[in-house]
Amino acid sequence: MKIFYIVSLFPDFLQSFKNHSMIYRAEKNKIIKIIPIDLRKFGINKRKTVDGTPAGGGGGMILRVDVIVKALESIKKKDKNLKVILLDPRGKIFNQKKAISIAQSKHNLVLICGHYEGVDERINDYVDEKISIGKYVLTGGEIPAMTIIDAVSRNIKRFFGNKTPYLNESFTTDNYLEYPQYTKPNEFEGKKIPEILLSGNHREIKDWRNDV
Ligand SMILES: C[S@@+](CC[C@H](N)C(=O)[O-])C[C@H]1O[C@@H](n2cnc3c(N)ncnc32)[C@H](O)[C@@H]1O
Repeated sequence: MKIFYIVSLFPDFLQSFKNHSMIYRAEKNKIIKIIPIDLRKFGINKRKTVDGTPAGGGGGMILRVDVIVKALESIKKKDKNLKVILLDPRGKIFNQKKAISIAQSKHNLVLICGHYEGVDERINDYVDEKISIGKYVLTGGEIPAMTIIDAVSRNIKRFFGNKTPYLNESFTTDNYLEYPQYTKPNEFEGKKIPEILLSGNHREIKDWRNDV
């Protein structure tokens, strides 16, 4: 079972992701486990402060390195088999190859979700890797964390039960894109399913799918 620890200021945000569809089933079948870690619990002083103003001035707030490291230490006490990833727009761009390599690795993952203006740069000494999910800026690391968990989980053996539909999926090899799919009705507003797909000739269907 692969465990994903998500360090987040908004752990409730992840709940719906855990409670639905294939991810829910994968957790139930002990293929993956998603453990949200509430960063607020590690905040300093009575108010459980987790952030501060940027050194040198500027707008927004920065998440404190000491608070995040405290959260990391609490996870490391229970789990020694960890790879720590910081979600960061400046990180290496995530892709299917990376999803497969994480799925095949023996490590459990800690995903640190930044928020506001980001995380104190000194966090670099405590993370193994920084990952971006694309060249745009989101409000927080929670959606990137869910994106990575979803893409990785689909590549873990048994995620689809005994079936392995992911073998034919887009990006299984570098630039491969899956063929177009259709289902009932056979005709909708004058648009028909290609006849070959209804022919029952599996060899020709396979050729069509390879060529299209
Ligand atoms: C508003 S962003 C901070 C952006 C930062 N000030 C910058 O310009 O690079 C807050 C947090 O959201 C997450 N985030 C935003 N966009 C992301 C992306 N494309 N990939 C991964 N994480 C992202 C990161 O954890 C980041 O620390």
